[in-house]
Amino acid sequence: MAAAFAAFHFWLLSCLAVTSLVRAEDHDQFIFNNGFLNANLHLDGNAKIQSNGLLQLTNTSKIVVGHAFYPSPINFNTSSPSSARSLSFSTNFVIALVPEWNVSSGHGIAFVISPSMDFSHASGSEYLGLFSTTNNGNSSNHVFAVEFDTIESLDMEDIDNNHVGIDVNSLISIRSTTAAYYSNEERENRSLELISGHPIHVWVDYNDGEKLLNVTLAPTTSPKPYQPLLTTSVNLSDILVDTMYVGFSAATGSIASNHYVLGWSFNRSGQAQSLEISKLPELPTPSEVPNLPKAGRRRKLDQLFMIILAVVVLVMITGAAYFRWRKKYEEIIEDWEKEYGPQRFLYKTLYKATKGFKDKQLLGTGGFGKVYKGTLPFSDEQIAVKKVSHESNQGMKEFVSEIVCMGRLRHRNLVRLLGYCRRKKELLLVYDYMPNGSLDKYLFNDDNPNLNWSQRFQIIRGVASALLYLHEEWEQVVLHRDIKASNVLLDSNLNGRLGDFGLARLYDHDSDPLTTRLVGTLGYLDPELTRTGKATKTADLFAFGAFLLEVACGRKPIDPSLSPEERFLVGLVSRCWKRGVILDASDPRLQGNYVVEEMEKVLKLGMLCSNSRPDLRPTIKEVVQYLDDNASLPHTPLESAENIISSILETLPPDHSTETNRSIANNLASDCIIPLSSSVVRASPNSISSTDTVLHIGR
Ligand SMILES: Nc1ncnc2c1ncn2[C@@H]1O[C@H](COP(=O)(O)OP(=O)(O)O)[C@@H](O)[C@H]1O
Ligand SMILES: *[C@@H]1O[C@H](CO)[C@@H](O)[C@H](O)[C@H]1NC(C)=O
Ligand SMILES: *[C@@H]1O[C@H](CO)[C@@H](O)[C@H](O)[C@H]1NC(C)=O
Ligand SMILES: *[C@@H]1O[C@H](CO)[C@@H](O)[C@H](O)[C@H]1NC(C)=O
Ligand SMILES: *[C@@H]1O[C@H](CO)[C@@H](O)[C@H](O)[C@H]1NC(C)=O
Ligand SMILES: *[C@@H]1O[C@H](CO)[C@@H](O)[C@H](O)[C@H]1NC(C)=O
Ligand SMILES: *[C@@H]1O[C@H](CO)[C@@H](O)[C@H](O)[C@H]1NC(C)=O
Ligand SMILES: *[C@@H]1O[C@H](CO)[C@@H](O)[C@H](O)[C@H]1NC(C)=O
Ligand SMILES: *[C@@H]1O[C@H](CO)[C@@H](O)[C@H](O)[C@H]1NC(C)=O
Repeated sequence: MAAAFAAFHFWLLSCLAVTSLVRAEDHDQFIFNNGFLNANLHLDGNAKIQSNGLLQLTNTSKIVVGHAFYPSPINFNTSSPSSARSLSFSTNFVIALVPEWNVSSGHGIAFVISPSMDFSHASGSEYLGLFSTTNNGNSSNHVFAVEFDTIESLDMEDIDNNHVGIDVNSLISIRSTTAAYYSNEERENRSLELISGHPIHVWVDYNDGEKLLNVTLAPTTSPKPYQPLLTTSVNLSDILVDTMYVGFSAATGSIASNHYVLGWSFNRSGQAQSLEISKLPELPTPSEVPNLPKAGRRRKLDQLFMIILAVVVLVMITGAAYFRWRKKYEEIIEDWEKEYGPQRFLYKTLYKATKGFKDKQLLGTGGFGKVYKGTLPFSDEQIAVKKVSHESNQGMKEFVSEIVCMGRLRHRNLVRLLGYCRRKKELLLVYDYMPNGSLDKYLFNDDNPNLNWSQRFQIIRGVASALLYLHEEWEQVVLHRDIKASNVLLDSNLNGRLGDFGLARLYDHDSDPLTTRLVGTLGYLDPELTRTGKATKTADLFAFGAFLLEVACGRKPIDPSLSPEERFLVGLVSRCWKRGVILDASDPRLQGNYVVEEMEKVLKLGMLCSNSRPDLRPTIKEVVQYLDDNASLPHTPLESAENIISSILETLPPDHSTETNRSIANNLASDCIIPLSSSVVRASPNSISSTDTVLHIGR
């Protein structure tokens, strides 16, 4: 039965082969759809026809060439009168470039029209078996080719290592483009890798009337694309001569691939019939063993192979699992960090503490990154982990050393920094967890319980004493540089604690003197700082002043949704003060329930700190003394609201600004409303910058 089937199969195949042979009789048109066994092609070099009819132009031997030509010349009738002749032709073929290893391989295949089949003087490698150094580019060659080149040769001015080129007498193409095809279904161009090893269907059509040549490519799994890859205007009159041979050339160099032609159809008198892909001979599969061993040995080999495979798979799975595990907890530790050992957390610890940085653990998102709640596995201590994404490694060393330094700061009104961890593009900072969140939520969000005056006053005094500690009482001067309500966190007793110190420093080190960098928050930013770019204690006091007003008045320093007169809190308080009704500026939500002297003191102190002249602002020591009633307020003349506001507007000078800043500046100056999502505009680290440091350590 099987034998009968095989015989029938053979008969069928021979019939088909005979039909193709018959068709091929006509010399100006032929089609080889099921192999080249009976094609009688003119072969040379490495070229051979395999037993299944597959045409192999080269195998993977180094620096070889192979040619295959249709044996009879094609008459192009160039000498007959132009009315009678046409140089049009149409051809389509399927090629495959199968690399030696799964690495870059070469060199490529070309479809050739040539006056002669003798290419004995042609070179391999980048010459693709067509030309040599002596005749490349010589117009007496009369050779036309379409190259499919997988090596970028500088000599041939190749564009890349995966291109299709139109060659006239030279391998320096008159036009070339990266291999690709237009997908009719998706209506877009898709990339195509010539060296993929998969068969590629190519159509080359030349219309003599329009002098237009189209080259179209597609994987054999797709129909002919509606759009060609290349449409080139080329006049073949001078190139072609009366009788020309058509065929293929391929070459290898120091790296090699198998170059195959699976089928070919050519027509001078009309559109070439498209090849039927299913009938083409098959490419040898890589697993195909040329000389099969005897069946018994083979079964043993199979078993051995299965065992090896199983072991390999097992090793790979374990390896992959290990690498995934490694990757999950991957972090960066450099030599200089060794001394900071105790302050350094393992990423694994933080990952477990925050349950894998789950969204459920998210406490909030700030200007620098997301903050997650966590519980340390061993001590059950609650922590807040801030994930700061940081692209460059620049300044990281200085920053970490300062972080570690700041880890030594201890004050009951500072959020304690417990340590850090570093990963690729990510810095994690570990703080004490503050169960009551940040102050701004109580001040500006009506959903949260209101804070009464005594709680607010306690918070103000706490933050003032923390700032005194940073400025005067610690062994070095620490500038905070980002004081504001949202950076004041509340512990379980509703004590205010200053957090986030020094973070802006991270964005400070890539100090290109031309793009001065400024970090801070609009409305809290000392105008002087934008002029000099130098962080100072007085700049911290300016921000502290804005904070005082914020707490007393229950609104943000700049509220763009309000009318221009009310937009700036300092302007509002200043005007109330001038009219002798400063208490009118107090937070209406307090409904007058406050200690009048304290409220007055806080509002006036806020104004003093907001003075546009740094030298007229009090020091933090004085502020603490006033708050503690150990001194009375100085009689500094009240600065006009206009003066203060115009200096705040100067915090956005045009010469500092990027596109965004400028538009914010314009918006602030004019009457339109700026859509601000967060509580205040944060001068984004990416858009605004400053020359000097955010955190100054050392006097
Ligand atoms: N130590 C902490 N404990 C509890 N919540 C915190 C802590 N740090 C930050 N948060 C929360 O995360 C949010 C974002 O923090 P942060 O990045 O400091 O904000 P911003 O950059 O705007 O100052 C805060 O509004 C606060 O609710
Ligand atoms: C390539 O073919 C040539 C001639 O057919 C042969 O001598 C050579 O061994 C082959 N090389 C490879 C790598 O198969
Ligand atoms: C070419 O020209 C010759 C004589 O001019 C003519 O006999 C022949 O049929 C022509 N061939 C083709 C393909 O046009
Ligand atoms: C081009 O080839 C012809 C024939 O081989 C030769 O006579 C001529 O010198 C060559 N021209 C150049 C510029 O090399
Ligand atoms: C596809 O590529 C061709 C040639 O590069 C170009 O002319 C055509 O506009 C591209 N089509 C699409 C849909 O991108
Ligand atoms: C080569 O290997 C890469 C990955 O190692 C794979 O994605 C690609 O498909 C392989 N190519 C061929 C031609 O086998
Ligand atoms: C070449 O492609 C263009 C654009 O698709 C088409 O208009 C033209 O008819 C084609 N020419 C040939 C010879 O196929
Ligand atoms: C093509 O080249 C021939 C010979 O040089 C010339 O006679 C003809 O005018 C050219 N055709 C076009 C369209 O340029
Ligand atoms: C050549 O074109 C003619 C006219 O369109 C067509 O009848 C014939 O089948 C084609 N032959 C081949 C081999 O494509």
